[in-house]
Amino acid sequence: MRITFGITWAAALVGLANSVAQSLAFAKPAENARAAAAAYYDSETGFTFSEYKVAYTLTSNVVVRIAAPSTATSGSAYPVVLQVVVPNGVGWGGIAWAGNMIKNPLTVAWANGNAAVLSSRWATSHSTPTMYTGATYEKLTTGNRVNGTHWQFTAVCNGCTSYAGSSGTIIVNPKGNNRLAFAFSASKPSSPSSNTSSIPVHDSPVYWNHDFSSGANANFADLVTRNGGHNNEFGNGTSL
Ligand code: HEM
Ligand SMILES: *[C@@H]1O[C@H](CO)[C@@H](O)[C@H](O)[C@H]1NC(C)=O
Ligand SMILES: *[C@@H]1O[C@H](CO)[C@@H](O)[C@H](O)[C@H]1NC(C)=O
Ligand SMILES: *[C@@H]1O[C@H](CO)[C@@H](O)[C@H](O)[C@H]1NC(C)=O
Repeated sequence: MRITFGITWAAALVGLANSVAQSLAFAKPAENARAAAAAYYDSETGFTFSEYKVAYTLTSNVVVRIAAPSTATSGSAYPVVLQVVVPNGVGWGGIAWAGNMIKNPLTVAWANGNAAVLSSRWATSHSTPTMYTGATYEKLTTGNRVNGTHWQFTAVCNGCTSYAGSSGTIIVNPKGNNRLAFAFSASKPSSPSSNTSSIPVHDSPVYWNHDFSSGANANFADLVTRNGGHNNEFGNGTSL
């Protein structure tokens, strides 16, 4: 009798854990909006990132890390290094740089073989985003991998943090909190080797306030070079 009771209780706990995992994966906006980001030093690349962990299941997170030059201001365009670590259960994931789907740069990514594919997108409605040339990505030679549990990419983005708004250029504040969103699906894009692949619709997006100030790097340009990347002084396609 006791044993039966114990097993029933254990089964109930597993059921509870699963439902908590479900509610974390499909969390409502308000539940995540309060959190900010903490500094994370990545010894592999040498960048200091502002880091936020998006709960994916009870035991796994999507980790979003953003590094910016310490000289960046909200007065002009600036590059970022974006590092995202994703559990293999995620078919595609995307960051919306103003925290909504419409009219902001969308960084969409998925694993293909032993590397992540990055795709630059933009949406003008709640339907499949189109290709966006206003943001460009260059993967670094470090910080990119796919293994048995995760896929991870590390890339310089020019154009992720500045874009045309309805009344002029909008620049994501490099020294403060910005509302970001992460959208994802367990399903993979139909042509994973192509960055113009169509992508299946996402589950409920997750939102948070990301404190960019903890990811300010004094030696940003030097670190980009050391990790095999190229600098573009203004972060908008204009080279030195
Ligand atoms: C693949 C095709 C996509 C379709 C068909 C789609 C469709 C939709 C729909 C219908 C909504 C509204 C949901 C609601 O009001 O309850 C929505 C919201 C949202 N989507 Fe998408 N989406 C797509 C791709 C993306 C991508 C790639 C991103 C980001 C990288 C994204 C980010 C968001 C966000 C942040 C919201 C909530 C805020 C808002 O409504 O603007 N979506 N999407
Ligand atoms: C796809 O990759 C090519 C080559 O790197 C790049 O020129 C293009 O802008 C990318 N397209 C998208 C939608 O990301
Ligand atoms: C797999 O990659 C993830 C993300 O980079 C990393 O955290 C994890 O330690 C790696 N696992 C192994 C066994 O190397
Ligand atoms: C990039 O920014 C610099 C400095 O603000 C500006 O001089 C240049 O015209 C811009 N280039 C483009 C392509 O927008």
